[in-house]
Amino acid sequence: MKRANFGSKIGVVLASAGSAVGLGNVWRFPYETGQNGGAAFILIYLGCVLLLGMPIMISEFIIGRHSQANTTGAYKFLAPNTHWKWLGFWGVMTGFLILSYYSVVAGWTLEYVMEALLNGFTGKIPSDFEASFVSFSQNPWRPLLWLAFFLLLTHFIIIKGVEKGIERSSKIMMPMLFLIIVMLVFCSLSLDGSEKGLEFLLKPDFSKVTSGTFLGAMGQAFFSLSLGMGCLCTYASYFNKNTNLTKTAFSVAGIDTVIAVLAGLIIFPAAFSVGIEPDKGASLVFITLPNVFQSAFGDVPVLAYVFSLMFYLLLALAALTSTISLHEVATAYLHEEFGFSRKKAAWCVTGCCLFLGVLCSLSLGVFQWFKIAGFTFFDLFDFVTAKLMLPLGGLFIAIFAGWFLDKKIVKDEMMTGGGVSVRLFMAYRFVLRYFVPVGISAIFLNELGVFS
Ligand code: TRP
Repeated sequence: MKRANFGSKIGVVLASAGSAVGLGNVWRFPYETGQNGGAAFILIYLGCVLLLGMPIMISEFIIGRHSQANTTGAYKFLAPNTHWKWLGFWGVMTGFLILSYYSVVAGWTLEYVMEALLNGFTGKIPSDFEASFVSFSQNPWRPLLWLAFFLLLTHFIIIKGVEKGIERSSKIMMPMLFLIIVMLVFCSLSLDGSEKGLEFLLKPDFSKVTSGTFLGAMGQAFFSLSLGMGCLCTYASYFNKNTNLTKTAFSVAGIDTVIAVLAGLIIFPAAFSVGIEPDKGASLVFITLPNVFQSAFGDVPVLAYVFSLMFYLLLALAALTSTISLHEVATAYLHEEFGFSRKKAAWCVTGCCLFLGVLCSLSLGVFQWFKIAGFTFFDLFDFVTAKLMLPLGGLFIAIFAGWFLDKKIVKDEMMTGGGVSVRLFMAYRFVLRYFVPVGISAIFLNELGVFS
Protein backbone atom coordinates (compact mmCIF):
# COMPACT_ATOMS: atom_id res chain seq x y z
CA MET A 1 0.00 0.00 0.00
CA LYS A 2 1.35 3.41 -0.87
CA ARG A 3 1.44 5.68 2.12
CA ALA A 4 1.27 9.44 2.21
CA ASN A 5 4.26 11.61 3.03
CA PHE A 6 4.85 15.04 4.43
CA GLY A 7 5.96 17.25 1.56
CA SER A 8 8.79 19.36 2.89
CA LYS A 9 11.26 19.49 5.74
CA ILE A 10 9.70 22.49 7.35
CA GLY A 11 6.36 20.74 7.00
CA VAL A 12 7.69 17.89 9.11
CA VAL A 13 8.73 20.16 11.95
CA LEU A 14 5.61 22.25 11.78
CA ALA A 15 3.21 19.33 11.67
CA SER A 16 4.87 17.69 14.68
CA ALA A 17 5.08 21.01 16.49
CA GLY A 18 1.44 21.54 15.54
CA SER A 19 0.63 18.33 17.35
CA ALA A 20 2.71 19.29 20.38
CA VAL A 21 1.60 22.90 20.70
CA GLY A 22 -1.99 23.22 21.76
CA LEU A 23 -4.18 23.48 24.81
CA GLY A 24 -1.51 21.56 26.69
CA ASN A 25 0.69 24.64 26.54
CA VAL A 26 -1.79 27.44 26.93
CA TRP A 27 -4.45 25.81 29.13
CA ARG A 28 -2.99 22.81 30.93
CA PHE A 29 0.54 24.01 31.63
CA PRO A 30 -0.55 27.17 33.50
CA TYR A 31 -3.15 25.32 35.50
CA GLU A 32 -0.79 22.53 36.55
CA THR A 33 1.90 25.09 37.34
CA GLY A 34 -0.58 27.05 39.43
CA GLN A 35 -1.70 24.01 41.37
CA ASN A 36 1.85 22.84 41.98
CA GLY A 37 3.30 26.04 43.34
CA GLY A 38 4.98 27.73 40.36
CA ALA A 39 8.70 27.98 39.71
CA ALA A 40 9.83 24.72 41.32
CA PHE A 41 7.28 22.83 39.24
CA ILE A 42 8.59 24.51 36.09
CA LEU A 43 12.17 23.48 36.87
CA ILE A 44 11.15 19.86 37.38
CA TYR A 45 9.07 20.08 34.23
CA LEU A 46 12.08 21.28 32.21
CA GLY A 47 14.11 18.36 33.59
CA CYS A 48 11.38 15.94 32.51
CA VAL A 49 11.26 17.42 29.00
CA LEU A 50 15.00 17.10 28.55
CA LEU A 51 15.71 13.78 30.23
CA LEU A 52 12.50 11.85 29.65
CA GLY A 53 10.78 13.64 26.79
CA MET A 54 13.65 14.03 24.36
CA PRO A 55 14.85 10.41 24.36
CA ILE A 56 11.28 9.12 24.08
CA MET A 57 10.45 11.51 21.27
CA ILE A 58 13.50 10.40 19.29
CA SER A 59 12.49 6.78 19.94
CA GLU A 60 8.95 7.34 18.70
CA PHE A 61 10.37 8.94 15.58
CA ILE A 62 12.68 5.99 14.98
CA ILE A 63 9.93 3.41 15.48
CA GLY A 64 7.52 5.30 13.24
CA ARG A 65 9.80 6.11 10.37
CA HIS A 66 11.46 2.74 10.25
CA SER A 67 8.22 0.80 10.14
CA GLN A 68 6.15 3.26 8.05
CA ALA A 69 3.00 2.06 9.74
CA ASN A 70 0.37 3.02 12.32
CA THR A 71 1.40 2.50 15.91
CA THR A 72 0.23 -1.12 16.28
CA GLY A 73 1.44 -2.01 12.79
CA ALA A 74 4.83 -0.59 13.72
CA TYR A 75 5.30 -3.04 16.58
CA LYS A 76 3.97 -5.91 14.50
CA PHE A 77 6.57 -5.05 11.87
CA LEU A 78 9.50 -4.52 14.22
CA ALA A 79 8.68 -7.31 16.65
CA PRO A 80 6.51 -9.83 14.79
CA ASN A 81 4.52 -12.35 16.84
CA THR A 82 5.28 -10.75 20.16
CA HIS A 83 3.13 -8.97 22.70
CA TRP A 84 4.64 -5.60 21.79
CA LYS A 85 1.66 -4.91 19.55
CA TRP A 86 -0.34 -4.28 22.72
CA LEU A 87 1.81 -1.25 23.34
CA GLY A 88 0.47 0.18 20.11
CA PHE A 89 -3.04 -0.73 21.14
CA TRP A 90 -2.53 0.93 24.53
CA GLY A 91 -1.56 4.09 22.66
CA VAL A 92 -4.67 4.00 20.51
CA MET A 93 -6.85 3.65 23.63
CA THR A 94 -5.04 6.49 25.37
CA GLY A 95 -5.58 8.64 22.29
CA PHE A 96 -9.33 7.99 22.32
CA LEU A 97 -9.61 9.10 25.93
CA ILE A 98 -7.47 12.21 25.46
CA LEU A 99 -9.28 13.26 22.31
CA SER A 100 -12.61 12.95 24.13
CA TYR A 101 -11.93 15.42 26.91
CA TYR A 102 -9.50 17.55 24.94
CA SER A 103 -12.26 18.28 22.43
CA VAL A 104 -14.45 19.54 25.23
CA VAL A 105 -11.89 22.21 26.12
CA ALA A 106 -11.25 22.86 22.45
CA GLY A 107 -14.98 23.48 22.15
CA TRP A 108 -14.74 26.10 24.91
CA THR A 109 -12.21 28.00 22.82
CA LEU A 110 -14.82 28.22 20.07
CA GLU A 111 -17.33 29.70 22.50
CA TYR A 112 -14.71 32.32 23.31
CA VAL A 113 -14.10 32.99 19.62
CA MET A 114 -17.81 33.61 19.29
CA GLU A 115 -17.88 35.77 22.38
CA ALA A 116 -14.94 37.80 21.06
CA LEU A 117 -16.59 38.13 17.68
CA LEU A 118 -19.80 39.45 19.22
CA ASN A 119 -17.80 41.82 21.38
CA GLY A 120 -19.04 40.11 24.51
CA PHE A 121 -16.00 40.88 26.66
CA THR A 122 -16.18 44.65 26.59
CA GLY A 123 -16.88 46.42 29.84
CA LYS A 124 -16.73 43.28 31.97
CA ILE A 125 -14.81 42.96 35.23
CA PRO A 126 -13.00 39.85 36.54
CA SER A 127 -15.96 38.54 38.53
CA ASP A 128 -18.13 38.75 35.42
CA PHE A 129 -15.69 36.58 33.51
CA GLU A 130 -15.75 34.03 36.25
CA ALA A 131 -19.51 33.98 36.42
CA SER A 132 -19.90 33.66 32.68
CA PHE A 133 -17.38 30.84 32.46
CA VAL A 134 -19.14 28.90 35.19
CA SER A 135 -22.55 29.37 33.70
CA PHE A 136 -21.29 28.44 30.23
CA SER A 137 -19.41 25.29 31.26
CA GLN A 138 -22.32 24.10 33.36
CA ASN A 139 -24.89 24.76 30.68
CA PRO A 140 -26.24 21.39 29.57
CA TRP A 141 -26.20 21.92 25.84
CA ARG A 142 -24.02 24.80 24.67
CA PRO A 143 -20.63 23.17 25.34
CA LEU A 144 -21.95 20.02 23.69
CA LEU A 145 -22.69 21.83 20.47
CA TRP A 146 -19.18 23.25 20.36
CA LEU A 147 -17.73 19.86 21.20
CA ALA A 148 -19.59 18.24 18.31
CA PHE A 149 -18.63 21.08 16.01
CA PHE A 150 -14.96 20.80 16.92
CA LEU A 151 -14.86 17.04 16.49
CA LEU A 152 -16.50 17.31 13.09
CA LEU A 153 -13.99 19.94 12.04
CA THR A 154 -11.18 17.58 13.01
CA HIS A 155 -12.96 14.76 11.24
CA PHE A 156 -13.21 16.53 7.91
CA ILE A 157 -9.59 17.62 7.93
CA ILE A 158 -8.57 14.05 8.71
CA ILE A 159 -10.42 12.63 5.74
CA LYS A 160 -8.86 15.18 3.42
CA GLY A 161 -5.55 13.40 4.05
CA VAL A 162 -2.17 14.03 5.53
CA GLU A 163 -0.38 16.51 3.40
CA LYS A 164 -3.14 18.83 2.36
CA GLY A 165 -4.91 18.94 5.71
CA ILE A 166 -2.30 18.78 8.41
CA GLU A 167 0.72 20.31 6.82
CA ARG A 168 -0.86 23.30 5.19
CA SER A 169 -2.78 24.43 8.21
CA SER A 170 0.26 24.17 10.51
CA LYS A 171 2.45 26.22 8.22
CA ILE A 172 0.41 29.37 8.48
CA MET A 173 -0.89 29.18 11.98
CA MET A 174 2.06 28.33 14.10
CA PRO A 175 4.09 31.47 13.38
CA MET A 176 1.03 33.64 13.82
CA LEU A 177 0.19 32.10 17.16
CA PHE A 178 3.72 32.65 18.31
CA LEU A 179 3.65 36.34 17.44
CA ILE A 180 0.43 37.03 19.21
CA ILE A 181 1.57 35.16 22.29
CA VAL A 182 4.73 37.24 22.50
CA MET A 183 2.67 40.37 22.23
CA LEU A 184 0.39 39.24 25.01
CA VAL A 185 3.34 38.59 27.29
CA PHE A 186 4.22 42.26 27.03
CA CYS A 187 0.63 43.28 27.69
CA SER A 188 0.41 41.07 30.72
CA LEU A 189 3.71 42.21 32.18
CA SER A 190 2.64 45.82 31.86
CA LEU A 191 -0.37 45.34 34.17
CA ASP A 192 -0.30 46.77 37.69
CA GLY A 193 0.83 44.23 40.25
CA SER A 194 2.17 41.79 37.67
CA GLU A 195 5.51 41.42 39.52
CA LYS A 196 3.98 39.00 41.99
CA GLY A 197 3.06 36.70 39.14
CA LEU A 198 6.55 36.90 37.76
CA GLU A 199 7.96 36.02 41.13
CA PHE A 200 5.62 33.04 41.36
CA LEU A 201 6.99 31.82 38.04
CA LEU A 202 10.66 32.49 38.58
CA LYS A 203 11.40 32.09 42.26
CA PRO A 204 11.31 28.41 43.20
CA ASP A 205 9.94 27.45 46.58
CA PHE A 206 11.16 23.89 47.05
CA SER A 207 9.31 23.49 50.32
CA LYS A 208 6.14 23.11 48.25
CA VAL A 209 7.50 20.17 46.23
CA THR A 210 5.71 16.89 46.92
CA SER A 211 5.55 13.55 45.12
CA GLY A 212 2.56 14.95 43.25
CA THR A 213 4.73 17.74 41.86
CA PHE A 214 6.96 15.21 40.17
CA LEU A 215 4.05 13.18 38.86
CA GLY A 216 2.36 16.33 37.61
CA ALA A 217 5.50 17.59 35.88
CA MET A 218 6.15 14.25 34.23
CA GLY A 219 2.55 13.94 33.08
CA GLN A 220 2.57 17.47 31.75
CA ALA A 221 5.80 16.83 29.82
CA PHE A 222 4.28 13.77 28.13
CA PHE A 223 1.02 15.55 27.46
CA SER A 224 2.53 18.70 26.09
CA LEU A 225 5.06 16.93 23.86
CA SER A 226 2.37 14.51 22.58
CA LEU A 227 4.41 11.56 23.82
CA GLY A 228 3.68 8.11 25.14
CA MET A 229 0.88 6.99 22.87
CA GLY A 230 2.39 6.66 19.43
CA CYS A 231 1.18 10.02 18.19
CA LEU A 232 4.54 11.32 17.00
CA CYS A 233 5.32 7.74 16.00
CA THR A 234 2.37 7.82 13.61
CA TYR A 235 3.49 11.20 12.27
CA ALA A 236 7.03 9.91 11.82
CA SER A 237 5.67 7.13 9.64
CA TYR A 238 4.93 9.89 7.14
CA PHE A 239 8.48 11.35 7.34
CA ASN A 240 10.90 10.57 4.54
CA LYS A 241 14.53 9.56 4.79
CA ASN A 242 15.82 13.13 4.53
CA THR A 243 14.45 14.07 7.91
CA ASN A 244 17.02 14.33 10.69
CA LEU A 245 15.10 12.82 13.57
CA THR A 246 17.20 14.21 16.40
CA LYS A 247 17.14 17.75 15.07
CA THR A 248 13.42 17.55 14.50
CA ALA A 249 12.91 16.34 18.07
CA PHE A 250 14.94 19.21 19.48
CA SER A 251 13.07 21.75 17.38
CA VAL A 252 9.67 20.38 18.35
CA ALA A 253 10.48 20.20 22.06
CA GLY A 254 12.09 23.64 21.92
CA ILE A 255 9.10 25.29 20.27
CA ASP A 256 6.69 23.53 22.61
CA THR A 257 8.57 24.52 25.75
CA VAL A 258 9.02 28.14 24.72
CA ILE A 259 5.30 28.47 24.03
CA ALA A 260 4.37 26.89 27.36
CA VAL A 261 6.65 29.20 29.31
CA LEU A 262 5.38 32.22 27.39
CA ALA A 263 1.82 31.16 28.19
CA GLY A 264 2.81 31.08 31.85
CA LEU A 265 4.23 34.58 31.46
CA ILE A 266 0.86 35.74 30.17
CA ILE A 267 -1.36 34.01 32.69
CA PHE A 268 0.33 34.48 36.06
CA PRO A 269 1.18 38.18 35.96
CA ALA A 270 -2.37 38.77 34.79
CA ALA A 271 -3.91 36.48 37.41
CA PHE A 272 -2.01 38.10 40.27
CA SER A 273 -2.76 41.52 38.91
CA VAL A 274 -6.52 41.02 39.10
CA GLY A 275 -6.46 38.84 42.20
CA ILE A 276 -7.37 35.47 40.72
CA GLU A 277 -5.95 32.51 42.64
CA PRO A 278 -3.25 30.71 40.60
CA ASP A 279 -4.48 27.29 41.71
CA LYS A 280 -7.90 27.75 40.23
CA GLY A 281 -7.59 24.64 38.04
CA ALA A 282 -9.10 23.99 34.64
CA SER A 283 -10.90 27.32 34.44
CA LEU A 284 -7.81 29.45 35.16
CA VAL A 285 -6.98 30.43 31.59
CA PHE A 286 -10.56 30.99 30.57
CA ILE A 287 -11.15 33.40 33.42
CA THR A 288 -7.79 35.16 33.40
CA LEU A 289 -7.20 35.76 29.73
CA PRO A 290 -10.22 37.84 28.80
CA ASN A 291 -9.09 40.20 31.58
CA VAL A 292 -5.72 40.68 29.96
CA PHE A 293 -7.29 42.08 26.85
CA GLN A 294 -9.69 44.29 28.75
CA SER A 295 -7.10 45.69 31.13
CA ALA A 296 -4.29 46.12 28.63
CA PHE A 297 -6.38 47.70 25.88
CA GLY A 298 -9.24 49.08 27.91
CA ASP A 299 -8.69 52.56 26.48
CA VAL A 300 -8.62 51.39 22.89
CA PRO A 301 -11.58 49.04 22.53
CA VAL A 302 -10.80 48.31 18.89
CA LEU A 303 -7.47 46.76 19.84
CA ALA A 304 -9.05 44.75 22.64
CA TYR A 305 -11.57 43.48 20.12
CA VAL A 306 -9.11 42.60 17.38
CA PHE A 307 -6.53 40.96 19.62
CA SER A 308 -8.93 38.89 21.64
CA LEU A 309 -10.61 37.64 18.50
CA MET A 310 -7.27 36.75 16.92
CA PHE A 311 -6.00 35.08 20.03
CA TYR A 312 -8.98 32.78 20.50
CA LEU A 313 -9.03 31.93 16.81
CA LEU A 314 -5.37 30.96 16.88
CA LEU A 315 -5.81 29.02 20.11
CA ALA A 316 -8.68 27.11 18.54
CA LEU A 317 -6.50 26.40 15.52
CA ALA A 318 -3.61 25.24 17.70
CA ALA A 319 -6.03 22.91 19.44
CA LEU A 320 -7.19 21.72 16.04
CA THR A 321 -3.71 20.69 14.90
CA SER A 322 -3.45 18.71 18.14
CA THR A 323 -6.84 17.02 17.85
CA ILE A 324 -5.94 16.13 14.26
CA SER A 325 -2.85 14.31 15.49
CA LEU A 326 -4.82 12.45 18.16
CA HIS A 327 -7.54 11.52 15.71
CA GLU A 328 -5.00 10.37 13.13
CA VAL A 329 -3.53 7.74 15.48
CA ALA A 330 -6.82 5.91 15.85
CA THR A 331 -7.92 6.47 12.27
CA ALA A 332 -4.66 5.12 10.82
CA TYR A 333 -4.99 2.14 13.17
CA LEU A 334 -8.53 1.23 12.09
CA HIS A 335 -7.71 1.93 8.45
CA GLU A 336 -4.55 -0.15 8.24
CA GLU A 337 -5.24 -2.91 10.75
CA PHE A 338 -8.88 -3.62 9.99
CA GLY A 339 -9.04 -2.57 6.37
CA PHE A 340 -11.72 0.09 7.01
CA SER A 341 -11.75 2.86 4.43
CA ARG A 342 -10.21 6.04 5.86
CA LYS A 343 -13.62 7.61 5.88
CA LYS A 344 -15.27 4.79 7.79
CA ALA A 345 -12.33 4.61 10.22
CA ALA A 346 -12.59 8.33 10.85
CA TRP A 347 -16.35 8.12 11.48
CA CYS A 348 -15.84 5.40 14.08
CA VAL A 349 -13.30 7.51 15.93
CA THR A 350 -15.40 10.66 15.75
CA GLY A 351 -18.50 8.82 16.95
CA CYS A 352 -16.81 7.20 19.96
CA CYS A 353 -15.08 10.37 21.01
CA LEU A 354 -18.27 12.35 20.73
CA PHE A 355 -19.99 9.94 23.07
CA LEU A 356 -17.18 10.01 25.65
CA GLY A 357 -16.75 13.76 25.21
CA VAL A 358 -20.42 14.35 26.01
CA LEU A 359 -19.96 12.45 29.28
CA CYS A 360 -16.91 14.54 30.15
CA SER A 361 -18.62 17.78 29.34
CA LEU A 362 -21.77 16.99 31.30
CA SER A 363 -19.67 15.85 34.25
CA LEU A 364 -18.79 19.51 34.82
CA GLY A 365 -22.44 20.53 35.00
CA VAL A 366 -25.53 18.39 35.36
CA PHE A 367 -23.59 15.26 36.32
CA GLN A 368 -21.30 17.03 38.76
CA TRP A 369 -22.58 14.81 41.55
CA PHE A 370 -21.31 11.68 39.83
CA LYS A 371 -17.78 10.97 40.97
CA ILE A 372 -15.43 8.04 40.66
CA ALA A 373 -12.73 8.00 43.35
CA GLY A 374 -13.45 11.67 43.93
CA PHE A 375 -13.03 12.61 40.28
CA THR A 376 -15.60 13.85 37.80
CA PHE A 377 -15.41 12.10 34.44
CA PHE A 378 -13.54 15.06 33.04
CA ASP A 379 -10.90 15.06 35.78
CA LEU A 380 -10.69 11.30 35.72
CA PHE A 381 -9.91 11.23 31.99
CA ASP A 382 -7.31 13.93 32.47
CA PHE A 383 -5.68 12.24 35.44
CA VAL A 384 -5.70 8.71 34.07
CA THR A 385 -4.35 9.65 30.66
CA ALA A 386 -1.75 12.30 31.50
CA LYS A 387 -0.50 10.93 34.80
CA LEU A 388 -0.80 7.18 34.23
CA MET A 389 -1.32 6.04 30.67
CA LEU A 390 1.11 8.33 28.87
CA PRO A 391 4.06 7.84 31.26
CA LEU A 392 3.44 4.08 31.29
CA GLY A 393 3.32 4.06 27.49
CA GLY A 394 6.54 6.09 27.49
CA LEU A 395 8.20 3.65 29.86
CA PHE A 396 7.49 0.75 27.53
CA ILE A 397 8.47 2.71 24.43
CA ALA A 398 11.84 3.39 26.10
CA ILE A 399 12.26 -0.27 26.98
CA PHE A 400 11.33 -1.28 23.45
CA ALA A 401 13.65 1.17 21.69
CA GLY A 402 16.43 0.82 24.24
CA TRP A 403 16.51 -2.90 24.95
CA PHE A 404 14.54 -4.70 22.29
CA LEU A 405 15.03 -2.90 19.01
CA ASP A 406 18.15 -3.87 17.05
CA LYS A 407 20.91 -1.33 17.78
CA LYS A 408 21.74 -1.16 14.10
CA ILE A 409 18.24 -0.03 13.16
CA VAL A 410 18.32 2.64 15.85
CA LYS A 411 21.72 3.87 14.74
CA ASP A 412 20.83 3.90 11.05
CA GLU A 413 17.68 5.85 11.68
CA MET A 414 19.52 8.40 13.78
CA MET A 415 22.31 8.75 11.24
CA THR A 416 20.22 9.39 8.12
CA GLY A 417 19.19 12.85 7.04
CA GLY A 418 22.34 14.56 8.30
CA GLY A 419 22.92 12.36 11.32
CA VAL A 420 24.30 13.09 14.75
CA SER A 421 27.69 12.70 16.38
CA VAL A 422 28.54 9.29 17.78
CA ARG A 423 28.74 10.85 21.21
CA LEU A 424 25.20 12.16 21.04
CA PHE A 425 24.01 8.77 19.86
CA MET A 426 25.71 7.09 22.81
CA ALA A 427 24.27 9.63 25.22
CA TYR A 428 20.78 9.08 23.81
CA ARG A 429 21.14 5.34 24.16
CA PHE A 430 22.44 5.50 27.68
CA VAL A 431 19.72 7.84 28.91
CA LEU A 432 17.06 5.80 27.13
CA ARG A 433 18.17 2.44 28.48
CA TYR A 434 18.91 3.39 32.06
CA PHE A 435 17.76 6.83 33.08
CA VAL A 436 14.30 6.85 31.49
CA PRO A 437 12.99 3.52 32.88
CA VAL A 438 14.44 4.22 36.31
CA GLY A 439 13.24 7.83 36.32
CA ILE A 440 9.64 7.06 35.32
CA SER A 441 9.42 4.13 37.75
CA ALA A 442 10.87 6.22 40.56
CA ILE A 443 8.28 8.96 40.04
CA PHE A 444 5.48 6.37 40.11
CA LEU A 445 6.86 4.63 43.19
CA ASN A 446 7.41 7.94 44.92
CA GLU A 447 3.77 8.82 44.31
CA LEU A 448 2.76 5.51 45.84
CA GLY A 449 4.73 6.47 48.92
CA VAL A 450 7.46 3.85 48.59
CA PHE A 451 10.27 6.29 49.40
CA SER A 452 8.66 8.21 52.22
N1 TRP B 1 0.37 17.96 22.95
C1 TRP B 1 -0.91 18.51 22.68
C2 TRP B 1 -1.06 19.78 23.48
O1 TRP B 1 -0.18 20.18 24.16
C3 TRP B 1 -2.01 17.52 22.93
C4 TRP B 1 -1.76 16.24 22.24
C5 TRP B 1 -1.80 16.02 20.90
C6 TRP B 1 -1.36 15.04 22.86
N2 TRP B 1 -1.44 14.74 20.65
C7 TRP B 1 -1.15 14.12 21.83
C8 TRP B 1 -1.13 14.70 24.17
C9 TRP B 1 -0.71 12.83 22.13
C10 TRP B 1 -0.70 13.41 24.46
C11 TRP B 1 -0.47 12.49 23.45
O2 TRP B 1 -2.08 20.39 23.47
